[in-house]
Amino acid sequence: MFDDLKGKTVVVTGSSKGLGAAMARRFGAEGMNVVTNYRSDEEGARETVRAIEEAGGAAAAIRSDVSKAECVEALYDAAMFSFGGIDIWVNNAGIEEGAPSDQKSIEAWQRVLDVNLTGVFAGCRCAINHFLEHDMPGTIINLSSVHEVIPWPHFADYAASKAGVGMLTKTLALEYADRGIRVNAIAPGAMNTPINAQKLADPEQRAATERLIPMGYVGAPEDVAAAAAWLASDQARYVTGTTLFVDGGMTLYPGFQFGEG
Ligand code: NAI
Repeated sequence: MFDDLKGKTVVVTGSSKGLGAAMARRFGAEGMNVVTNYRSDEEGARETVRAIEEAGGAAAAIRSDVSKAECVEALYDAAMFSFGGIDIWVNNAGIEEGAPSDQKSIEAWQRVLDVNLTGVFAGCRCAINHFLEHDMPGTIINLSSVHEVIPWPHFADYAASKAGVGMLTKTLALEYADRGIRVNAIAPGAMNTPINAQKLADPEQRAATERLIPMGYVGAPEDVAAAAAWLASDQARYVTGTTLFVDGGMTLYPGFQFGEG
């Protein structure tokens, strides 16, 4: 647990399920005020809020589509209305749509970029404006992916968006470092969340995924939540502009694990 997080306010985009919900719950357990966000899964967001409140925390569920800048502004306004300020902003919402690149429509490409990259920029901009306006330090965490560095056939849009998140994170970190604003990314590997549910339910596909993970197993959402809590806390006060890989070693060239090559 990180004592300095107690009483601070955090916004977590896309927190009706998966990694976002796990991070929201962890932040709630840290004694923070948590603004959960959802696009369509109201019940999931309410469940996240319920879990936080039952554990003694404070939370609000706000509907907003982060692919639209004006909706991100509205999410910020709602956070201000609920808790009177923000200290930490987590750009977590993300989507993926697989298709061979020669058959991928521009509309499909744009959908992924709008949520995964433009939505992240819109969230960063809101948070940075708040921190500057109030002359306060602040922290931003962007959810990237191992596909920030690993190419992924059929998911060119997703991989490009996550590589973009990596450079966006570094650039904003540099741009605002002297204002006490830290900007970092977390790059999960294969985690047990709804985005992967279909793949992981199939024993063959699960085994194929596990072969890509040197530690040999799919990660839990709580592993990402623990990294997010640390990055948000003062324990990481000298950390900015970095991507923290939470991937069981997936980015370590697993083909070389047992001396091959
Ligand atoms: P998920 O599909 O389980 O949850 C995604 C969340 O984002 C949901 O709450 C969904 O409602 C929300 N969302 C999607 N579009 C939205 C929009 N336009 N506006 C607001 N909310 C929206 O996904 P998961 O697995 O929890 O992933 C979270 C983040 O972590 C994503 O950015 C994803 O790319 C990244 N990630 C996940 C990995 C995994 O193995 N689960 C691996 C690497 C990265």
